[in-house]
This record gives sequence, structure tokens and C-alpha cells, in this order.
Amino acid sequence: MSSKNIVVIPGDGIGAEITTAALSVAQAAADKCHISFTYETKQAGGAAIDAYGVPLPEDTITACRRADGVLLGAVGGPKWDNVAPELRAEKAILGLRKELGLYANLRPIKVFPALAGQSPLKPEIVSSVDILIVRELNGGIYYGARQEATVINGVEQACDNEIYSRPEVERIVRLACRAAIGRKGKLMSVDKANVLATSRLWRKVAAEVVQDFEQVQLNHMYVDNCAMQLVLNPGSFDVIVTSNLFGDILSDEAAVLSGSIGLLPSASLGDGTGLYEPIHGSAPDIAGQGLANPLGTILSAAMLFRYSLSSEQAAAMIDQAVEQVLNDGYRTADIYQPGFTKVSTEEMGRQVIARLR
Ligand code: IPM
Ligand code: MG
Repeated sequence: MSSKNIVVIPGDGIGAEITTAALSVAQAAADKCHISFTYETKQAGGAAIDAYGVPLPEDTITACRRADGVLLGAVGGPKWDNVAPELRAEKAILGLRKELGLYANLRPIKVFPALAGQSPLKPEIVSSVDILIVRELNGGIYYGARQEATVINGVEQACDNEIYSRPEVERIVRLACRAAIGRKGKLMSVDKANVLATSRLWRKVAAEVVQDFEQVQLNHMYVDNCAMQLVLNPGSFDVIVTSNLFGDILSDEAAVLSGSIGLLPSASLGDGTGLYEPIHGSAPDIAGQGLANPLGTILSAAMLFRYSLSSEQAAAMIDQAVEQVLNDGYRTADIYQPGFTKVSTEEMGRQVIARLR
């Protein structure tokens, strides 16, 4: 098999520790599956602001465009919170999503049986949770025209625009339909159509797109109700498809169901290179201490094998090893409880490798 090339972007804070752990798991899984890949490390976020004065250097964009997949840790931190808006570390992620045309963000929310007691919700409510959030990632209020705070007629005001076009809604709903077919076939489109024009377009287009997918059963839900149902009855959801902003908010909420945001991976897909990252942030407060949970990044590497390297075998091998590690009682600080084995970021990676088979 020809060799694949991965770009690794550690980013800031705990980014370096978690990507190092995930990369060693990925190498071990690739060896076992006779896949060969090379990787190069690139900068983005605060690290790039320090080194190059910009959050997303051209060189990083070019390398990502050429790569078969990108594994990203996390970006940002208090050190860069007061820079100009266009230089913020978050611009690295938003820029990469735009430059690579990553319009679909897949965020699977699962509750590992070993951790059902870890969730702030009752085990009987979370044990049946298996949700895939499909978040639109290239449009909406994240990319609409923006006016930073300015004084107009003596009053300071600011403005953000939410824009969606029919093709943007069509492609994300289509992708969500295909994802639903591989699961229970239930698609929940989430919007705020009782108030927002973009949501009314979204709802109309979603209903039309689903006509092409006989196996998919579509329902619509307002986002406020969805936020409530995610804690009342999370087991009722299969696939959720929603806009950029609503997906951002709902995926953090849903992450809590699993017991720790440190466990959750994501894939950002488009027509070119895919990007894979844990959904948590850079956690500067615990950086460099071996406290970070690498499992979200390790599971992101599994998604990279699944969607960008066409190796379901390596992906499933990593998923199973992670589940086994948790069953065997290994816990990083964020999910530790007395009676379990507390391990560092690096040791967690080693324990996953030991269970790849
Ligand atoms: C996420 C993050 C990003 C987002 C930030 C870092 C720009 O919260 O991936 O969910 O808002 O999309
Ligand atoms: Mg977010």
C-alpha cells in the first residue's frame, strides 16, 4: 500500500501531550494493520502567533491541503486572549475549516459502559446514549459579516450576521442522511424556525433533501427544546443535524453525558483533506503536567483512519482498545475515582497500545 501523509498540529496548552500520545497509538495501530504513514508537525494557534506573528501560517495551510489527514490538538490560551480579533488563536481553527472546505463536523457522543456512573446524569438516563451530532461547519454566523463594537449615534454596538444558502444546507443534510443510514435511520434537524429566517430555509431544505433517502426518518426540533431533551431523554436521539452555532453549543452540552469532555473526538470533513481533533480546548491550566486525558485525541485518530485513510480495521482496533482500557480501570485525572488506577497522559496512551489487537 502506498504511504499516506499526516499533518500533526499540536497547537497550544495540552495539545502537545495529547497529540504525542495519539500519534504513538496511531503508529502502533498502523503497524498492526500493515498501513504505512509518515507525518510532519506544523504550527497553528498561539504557538504560530509566537513564532510567525499569525495564527495560521501559509506553510501550515499548504501542508494540510497536500496531506491525507490532519490531526490537531487544541489551540488558544489566556496568553493570546487580548490580541486583535483577526489574530486570535481560534482563527487558526476557523481558517483551517474554511481553507480546507470542511463543511461537516461529526461529533459522536457515546457513553462507555465503564463510565456510565461518571456522568452527572443518572446512569439509567445515559446508558443508552449513542448520538452523532452533524454540525454545519463552513457557514452561518461564524462566517457572516461582522462589525466589531463601534459607537454609532453615541451608542456602542456590534453586529454578527447569520447567513445560509440552499446548497450549504443541502450538502450537510445529505451527509447527515448518509450517516443516519449506517445507524438507526433517525435524523433530528435542529433549528429555531419560529424566529430565524435562516432556520426556516434550513427546515424547508432539510425536508426536501430527505425525500431522496427512503430509509431516513426526519423530525424537526427547536434548539431550545433540543437543549432540554438532551438532558431529559438523550437516548431518544440518533443523528442530529444542525447549524454551526447551534452545533457548537449542543455538542458541548451533549459531551457532558459521557462523563468527561476529554473523551470526545471529532472529524471535520469536506471535499479535500479531513481534520480530526478532540472537542475540548487547550486547558492551559493543566498543560505540561501529564494530567490531560488523551482519549478524545486517540479516538480522533481512529476517526482519521476511518474517514481519511479508509482503514476501518485500524479505526475499530483503536475504538475497542480504548473501551478495554476503561473496562480495565485505567483513569486519567478528569475521570478518576478511588479504587481505579490513576495514570498520566502518556501512560494512558501506552495502555491503549497494549490492548490493540
Ligand atoms: C469547537 C470550538 C471552536 C468553535 C472554537 C475554538 C472556535 O468551540 O470546535 O467547538 O467554536 O467551533
Ligand atoms: Mg465548541
